[in-house]
Amino acid sequence: MSSTSARGKYLGDALRKACTNAAGGGKFRILEVAAGTGGTTRYVTSHLRNHGIPFEYVFTDISASLVAAAKKRFSAVDSMVFEVLDVEKSVRPEYVGAFHCVIATNCIHATRNLEVSLSHLRAMIREDGALTLIEITKNMFWLDIVVGLFEGWWLFEDGREHALVDEQHWERVMKKAGFGEVLWSDGAIPESKTVRVIGAFPRKRCVAIESTPLKKPTKAALETVVYKKVGDKEIHADIYYPDEVPVPNKKLPIALMIHGGSHVIFSRKDIRPAQTRYLLEKGFLPVSLDHRLCPEWAWSSGGQLAMSLAWTAPQRGLRPPEAILAFYCPTNYEDKWWRHPIQPIGAEDKGHEYDVLEAIQDEPITNYGVVGAWEPLSDPRILTDPRCRIVLHINWKAQTLPVIVGGLPSRKKADEGPDPARADPPGQLPTPTF
Ligand SMILES: C[S@@+](CC[C@H](N)C(=O)[O-])C[C@H]1O[C@@H](n2cnc3c(N)ncnc32)[C@H](O)[C@@H]1O
Repeated sequence: MSSTSARGKYLGDALRKACTNAAGGGKFRILEVAAGTGGTTRYVTSHLRNHGIPFEYVFTDISASLVAAAKKRFSAVDSMVFEVLDVEKSVRPEYVGAFHCVIATNCIHATRNLEVSLSHLRAMIREDGALTLIEITKNMFWLDIVVGLFEGWWLFEDGREHALVDEQHWERVMKKAGFGEVLWSDGAIPESKTVRVIGAFPRKRCVAIESTPLKKPTKAALETVVYKKVGDKEIHADIYYPDEVPVPNKKLPIALMIHGGSHVIFSRKDIRPAQTRYLLEKGFLPVSLDHRLCPEWAWSSGGQLAMSLAWTAPQRGLRPPEAILAFYCPTNYEDKWWRHPIQPIGAEDKGHEYDVLEAIQDEPITNYGVVGAWEPLSDPRILTDPRCRIVLHINWKAQTLPVIVGGLPSRKKADEGPDPARADPPGQLPTPTF
């Protein structure tokens, strides 16, 4: 049985029992949040129908196209309503206290603030109702690699160390969001400790649950060192040390973190804190580097630097990395896509007038932290900051390749004329460099 069908059957059964044992008459009003493609919906609705339980089912998701697809898919089911609903936004008045049961499978962890999302769900539940979540409460490495490619995995900004939290954390935050009682499924096999059905009820019931205290979060001590000097220019690295060293004097494997930034912006600080903590917990020594940025220094970028370590490290007598993970980095600059204008969504070319050389320094710079890495396009400075505009310029005017490979001179150097030292022999491109 697939996990979707297993959890759907589990939920359907739980709902059937709750509805059969409930006092009073009328239809049960069920709201499903983040219902997606309707995997859970199908099982729950057919289970309730097969048992003759009258219900009204409100199918919702943040995605209008998924809601439209579900409307077609479930057109044969009576008493279903389809709506777009963002669980992070305030509750619409007609949904306050309106549902006997709210279901959300595999979604709430991917919201910014668990307490905020849960308090929205709490507001929609009747006093005699219940919230039923299905959540993964134990991380598995592959999830970070696979699901970590989705934005939702990294949205959390409520003090969590990772998108996934354990069942005690859910209990704590659900109680803060106004639930009186929290229960979860358990079992002897590892799977039942990994994916759990978590029930939360507005009223406190007489069931005692033992909860263990939360694990102390890993704190990192930071040391900044100069790892390279080029002329007068010092290039820095941040070393993150673990709180406690598990085995004294044991050498830790280094996890080198190289930030991106369209070759032009960001700094060694633009690495994900959750990722650093995760590496520390797994016994690595995270080190985050600055590197010389384009366009003062031609051909530089985080992903390219990381990947080229495979051959540049042995050339210097160093061991190449055991593994290189490059997230979102361009890998094929030969593609003709780069030769066409690119319009970043939210920062399209609207014919602004600007001087692209305005933000270019006389000497290479190694970091630029005016705009943070995580949502640069939503920061209004992306359009007004001269250096961010270089990034927009190379996209808008199809100048990525000429600028990152050839660089651009500062206004002063441009006035002085071409620098022959910068020219590479014909047919040879420079290798990315720190
Ligand atoms: C991993 S899928 C789970 C879908 C479904 N619940 C299931 O388990 O098969 C996550 C779903 O959450 C939806 N979603 C993401 N953020 C949301 C939000 N803020 N409010 C409502 N739905 C959201 C996505 O559109 C997606 O359909």
